Amino acid sequence: MARVAIRELIKRYGDVVAIDRLNLEVKDREFVVLLGPSGCGKTTTLRCVAGLEDVTEGEIYIGDRLVNRLDPKERNVAMVFQSYALYPHMTVFKNMAFPLENARLPRQEIAKRVARTSKLLQIEPLMDRKPSQLSGGQRQRVALGRALVREPQVFLMDEPLSNLDAKLRVHMRAELKKLQKDIGVTTIYVTHDQVEAMTMADRIALMEGGVLQQHAPPMEVYEHPANRFVAGFVGSPPINMFDCDVSEDGVLDAGEFRIAISKDLLAAAQSASSKGVTVAIRPQDVPVSRDPPRENDGVGMEVYTTEPLGDVVILDLKAGDHLLKVVVGPDFQVGDASRLWVRFPPPKIHLFDRGTGRALA
Ligand SMILES: Nc1ncnc2c1ncn2[C@@H]1O[C@H](COP(=O)(O)OP(=O)(O)OP(=O)(O)O)[C@@H](O)[C@H]1O
Ligand SMILES: [Mg+2]
Repeated sequence: MARVAIRELIKRYGDVVAIDRLNLEVKDREFVVLLGPSGCGKTTTLRCVAGLEDVTEGEIYIGDRLVNRLDPKERNVAMVFQSYALYPHMTVFKNMAFPLENARLPRQEIAKRVARTSKLLQIEPLMDRKPSQLSGGQRQRVALGRALVREPQVFLMDEPLSNLDAKLRVHMRAELKKLQKDIGVTTIYVTHDQVEAMTMADRIALMEGGVLQQHAPPMEVYEHPANRFVAGFVGSPPINMFDCDVSEDGVLDAGEFRIAISKDLLAAAQSASSKGVTVAIRPQDVPVSRDPPRENDGVGMEVYTTEPLGDVVILDLKAGDHLLKVVVGPDFQVGDASRLWVRFPPPKIHLFDRGTGRALA
């Protein structure tokens, strides 16, 4: 097993800067999820670690070895792609044994490793089948198996579940995580799905435009997003945001309504650049009531739509041009109310510099 250290990594394709000074440490046995929107540089990062791309600048270490100049074969990593092409004419056994035969391992060792891995993945009964005789999830497990039999030091996975249907994806998500912990292999896992990242990662590395935005455990990313981009990317429904001016009397002025804040928050807000602040609050963190709250800190909003999801209801509320999403329990009675009251509890408010996007509090 091994750690992976990426130092000051730059990857350019002509004028395109795919990765811009990436610094990332993946600890031994850790499961790090590289998360970010399409084109942010996730696959490029994996390919650089795997040795499938030359780096423009910077260093990549696997264990204590600088691997920049090593061939993919010498790096002792295994990569599983989104489109995991199994060999259609080979049985499951043969698919898994093939990379080991290529590496000229003794026949007995091959049989031992394939047996062990297929047991781990619970595909033993399928060993004589061809890929066309397998379900999507089974095929996915064979693809994982084919990578695992090589007993790599580092496992690299690029959206390995994205071809599966929603239900199977949830199932495989849990299985993969368990498997990774059982074998304890250092893993970098790429996805653009924030739920996958939240549920699977020891730490999330969130990228945007080739730049690392935050690298932290899932709950820290969720509760303390480093900037506005991170706040908007993680969480469902997405976090609510309002651009506000900081007024003299210590409130945040969103135009249609005003938000009273604590002294601490005010001090943070006043440290923002001249452009003011962005206030963000998660839909789960907004208390809502049919009557105005007693403290006189409520904001009245028009009920725009309601979306019942079974376990929760999402309310879309409106004040002028501002839309606010709020999550309430299934028992919340909107009834015939056309107007509801919300509050913005100061401990739940995230503040960002409207100019730079950086977190202020
Ligand atoms: N071979 C290439 N030549 C030129 N530009 C490339 C090449 N490969 C990737 N890029 C560019 O580098 C950037 C990062 O691409 P990358 O494939 O790493 O994104 P990604 O985060 O994996 O996105 P997705 O979620 O869509 O897979 C993109 O702007 C992409 O267009
Ligand atoms: Mg990609």
